[in-house]
Amino acid sequence: MKILLMASSAREHAVAEALVKSRSKPEIIAICSTKNPGIANIATEMHVQSIMDFPKILEIAKQSKPDFAFIGPDDPIGGGLVDALETIDVPSVAPKKNLARIESSKGFARNLLQKYDIHASPRFKIFDSAERKELSIFMEQESRGNFVVKYDALKGGKGVKVSGEHLQTIEEGIEYAIACIEECGQVVIEEKLIGVEFSLMSFVSGTKVVDMPAIQDHKRAFVGDTGPNTGGMGTYSDADHSLPFLQKKDLDRAKEINRLTAEALERECGEPFKGILYGGFMAVKDGVRLIEFNARFGDPEVLNVLPLLETDFVDICQTIIDENLSEDLVRFAHKATVCKYIAPEGYPMNKDQRGQTVSLPVIPSNARLYYGDVSRMDDGKLLLGGSRTAGIVGIEDTIADAEKIAQSLCEKVKGPVRFRRDIGTEKFVKKRVEFMRSLRTY
Ligand code: AMP
Ligand code: GLY
Repeated sequence: MKILLMASSAREHAVAEALVKSRSKPEIIAICSTKNPGIANIATEMHVQSIMDFPKILEIAKQSKPDFAFIGPDDPIGGGLVDALETIDVPSVAPKKNLARIESSKGFARNLLQKYDIHASPRFKIFDSAERKELSIFMEQESRGNFVVKYDALKGGKGVKVSGEHLQTIEEGIEYAIACIEECGQVVIEEKLIGVEFSLMSFVSGTKVVDMPAIQDHKRAFVGDTGPNTGGMGTYSDADHSLPFLQKKDLDRAKEINRLTAEALERECGEPFKGILYGGFMAVKDGVRLIEFNARFGDPEVLNVLPLLETDFVDICQTIIDENLSEDLVRFAHKATVCKYIAPEGYPMNKDQRGQTVSLPVIPSNARLYYGDVSRMDDGKLLLGGSRTAGIVGIEDTIADAEKIAQSLCEKVKGPVRFRRDIGTEKFVKKRVEFMRSLRTY
């Protein structure tokens, strides 16, 4: 068996590891935007090139004739690589371009929920012309000054600006909204929600939806959830596959929203979504709201879940493609995980540490290390890229113990890098639990 893996980060190192564990013993043909040493170690063939150069990707696929493709990153999915591969009879674990709008257009996602009566959105409005007065009415009156401005295209979670945090005045909000409209044609403005965020990823094959453990990501760059949004600085999951600040009905509702959305997508687009649907949720005072969808595994979220997978990942991929996916093919160990990302000191503001050396520790059996934007030179040295360097995951019976493992390994990393010490600590998790307790009205 051969699998074409489209890769750009640590997410696909975790995917490659899960694929080769399969009893099908697949060969991995990797196409990766960096010289990822983790993927290079696993792949039988590795092409370092643009993951948006579709003609070249099709050339490689025609030569290697893979049984299927696994596409990790959002850009080639949103750009229609699944459709392109289908023209040469290579099926993919990822949705086609039309279905991937659930991630690539925040406006499409909000409209879909509205059209199919999935009541999970905050108050929102989509603007495609720069009407200062209209923008101001929505921000000032309808949202009572608490609003979020969302660039309506893929931007790695970094096109979102929140009032009171990134935008200090209505005027700043209007300016950013106008810049978004000028750049990508439309902007989504939403009421700002107060609550605690979590991610729920599901394997989806049409209307068959099988959920993974819930995860909490930390998107802000610095300790205490401060600073700019990043791709994600670290994550945790609990042994019961829920999260300490959630009630059962919160998680049940998030699962229902993913399922209803998969069904709505099939009805709206006339064909099945095949791949991973990632719901980014917020637990709020009176239930759960949807913040955004992604049409792929989360990074770092997948670094928490795939090491826990006890069943065969290739079987899951094949049944997603063949529309035979079933619950019994998916089983996760009841363990807690904490992932902390090592990132260059300047991330995400600058890439000043690019090319500098980093050294990573030896990893024990109750932990994992997944390489991100880092390259191994011929002399064995590891050099930093500009983005997140490596995800280090501790795996134990409790979040607190998993955190200690991840933390002690992160402390052993040497180089001009940093990580968030607070992610997954007992103190930080407890703060979330107490905050939800004080907020919840049910
Ligand atoms: P997104 O790319 O839509 O996930 O947005 C990035 C981040 O912005 C989220 O993880 C939230 O922290 C924040 N955010 C997005 N939408 C809202 C909202 N309606 N209310 C509060 N925060 C939000
Ligand atoms: N961890 C957030 C994302 O993958 O988009």
